[in-house]
Amino acid sequence: MVAPEVEQPDEKSELANIRAMLPTETAKGLSRQMLSSCPVLHSDADGGFWMINRHADIMSVMQDQEAFVNGNKGVRVPDEPVERPYLPPIDSNPPMHRSVRNLESPYLSPKALSALEPGIRRIIRVLVADLAPLGRCDIAKDLAQVFPPKITFTLLFGLEDEDELERLRHWVRMLSYGRYEEDPADLRNAQAEWNEWNHAFVTRRRSTARRDDIIDGLLYGQVAGDRPLTDAEVAGAIEILTFGGFDTTADATSNFVVRMIDEPGLESWLRENPEHIPAAVEEAMRLEPPVTTRPRRAAHDVVINGQTIKAGDRLLCNYLAANIDPDEWEAPDRFNLSRRRNRVMTFGVGPHRCIGSTLARLSLRIVVEELLAQLQDLRFETPERERRLSISAGRWRAVDSLPVQYRPLVRGEGHE
Ligand code: HEM
Repeated sequence: MVAPEVEQPDEKSELANIRAMLPTETAKGLSRQMLSSCPVLHSDADGGFWMINRHADIMSVMQDQEAFVNGNKGVRVPDEPVERPYLPPIDSNPPMHRSVRNLESPYLSPKALSALEPGIRRIIRVLVADLAPLGRCDIAKDLAQVFPPKITFTLLFGLEDEDELERLRHWVRMLSYGRYEEDPADLRNAQAEWNEWNHAFVTRRRSTARRDDIIDGLLYGQVAGDRPLTDAEVAGAIEILTFGGFDTTADATSNFVVRMIDEPGLESWLRENPEHIPAAVEEAMRLEPPVTTRPRRAAHDVVINGQTIKAGDRLLCNYLAANIDPDEWEAPDRFNLSRRRNRVMTFGVGPHRCIGSTLARLSLRIVVEELLAQLQDLRFETPERERRLSISAGRWRAVDSLPVQYRPLVRGEGHE
């Protein structure tokens, strides 16, 4: 008897239903599949978009600001459930884009940040010192999600009021992690309250003495067209700095802790070889990028890897896939601290590349140094290890909760 013909699932057509938002655990596996079978894939889900997966293709998309534009409307995938203000520079295109970055970058340069380093160290050291004697904590909620907002709020924005900081943390959380889960009416309220706060902050700063910080840079500098930014533009720039400053470093920290517990011997080896901390942070961020995808819209017809993308089509560049593309990385899934060429996509690439990457890397180095100096034998407290939030568009590996246990480590020689 002849066996009936079984219809083989067509991998490509199955993948074509891919959504922009994927459960955490499936996103990496699907990224591997897309890299091998359909690196430029069209999905009809979420209003239709192209998923670009290969490292080389994302490089070419992200470096071409003329062909692939950014923006707050008609670019994001899926569409935003709430009306967002214009957020320069991330929503800007040339020539505005470069000129806004020029206002901010002097305050986020390695030189400017070296002046902030003692303050960053102080914030992190005190938080870790409070947790050390407890022997356990939720390292996502008690540390990772606490220090980056504190650094942004106090050291970049020059603010102190703890209640204000808590309100900002609430709005950021609602409008990033909660963006597709919360009731749209609550999101609209959160956005409206945040807009009001941002505008009041701008007004407050216009009426106080200048202090030569990033807020002054935005208030008093000139952009394309030889004009200052409007109050609404300054408020938008502050909002995206807040998004960038609050959440991404938090997720990178929790992801690093997970990696450190998972890699046998890594904790004690890094304690003995602290010069390798930056490479370990980088490699953890390659394998678990906090921002997994970024959108663009094609300004005109263009061919990528044999596929014609039409003018107006939306694209989602999949950093998660690019960071494990075998054409770019040898043994891409291995945690390897001696990669010679490291064109990691975690902070993006091209003109919109993360302007806060130096601050993020500095903060991450310091938090890992302080963890290694004050805690030892970190382990997961519960068998389920960590609670990660599902991907919400543009994000992945967002860690909500990470209960861990450890022993306090008394500072030894070499640590003040
Ligand atoms: C581990 C931490 C971080 C990660 C993974 C990250 C990731 C990214 C990525 C992928 C982009 C590129 C977006 C695109 O091309 O569309 C970006 C842009 C940006 N990031 Fe970050 N970021 C981090 C930390 C920060 C911090 C600490 C700040 C603020 C101080 C910040 C502020 C920004 C801003 C303002 C942009 C827009 C730049 C532009 O459009 O020219 N980020 N970030």
